[in-house]
Amino acid sequence: MMTPMIPPILDFATGKLGGAELVEKSTTLADLQGLFADPRAEAALSPDTPLYRVAMLPGNGGEGDLNMGVTHLEAGMIGNEFFMTRGHIHARAEQAEYYFGLCGRGLLLLQDMAGVCRLEQVFPGSVHHIPGHVAHRLVNTGETQLSALAVWPAIAGHDYRLMAERGFGLRVVAGKEGEPCVVSSEVSVSIT
Ligand code: F6R
Ligand code: ZN
Repeated sequence: MMTPMIPPILDFATGKLGGAELVEKSTTLADLQGLFADPRAEAALSPDTPLYRVAMLPGNGGEGDLNMGVTHLEAGMIGNEFFMTRGHIHARAEQAEYYFGLCGRGLLLLQDMAGVCRLEQVFPGSVHHIPGHVAHRLVNTGETQLSALAVWPAIAGHDYRLMAERGFGLRVVAGKEGEPCVVSSEVSVSIT
């Protein structure tokens, strides 16, 4: 009898991908220079500080194919601002994406092209539909690594320039008790 193949394996409790040769990309503080609000706090940390790592299954990248990858975002802060991903909109901006929370706790920051922001809580089992034309960024507000699975069209690509120019309208910072607060220009709102 033909032996069925063993496919790649995702450990949903830890986000660890295995059983396939992975494509991995690590991002350090140096890669995100100037992204966080407090330059002095940023300068106090080593530029080699690891912030996040994306492990992807290799795809063929063609029209109609899907990519899948797990983002592991470390817990920590630059000043009082929680660690976050760079954030992007897709190069093919109309292409949507799904995120699934696996472990840890955080927020998904979404911003449409009119600059309207919203946040979704990310936790084990959370499901997030990111429509086309919406920029997205993960923020780790917890004390442990935040891991989230993403599935998106291979043709979507990443446009990092647009959000580098526009910036996200919200920042997520720790309040007096360490609770996540959303800062929008000068207004600060507790979200716990
Ligand atoms: C893919 C996607 C995620 C992110 C990852 C890292 O479209 O949204 O896999 O690429 O969370 O974030 P960025 O790409 O903003 O550095
Ligand atoms: Zn994306």
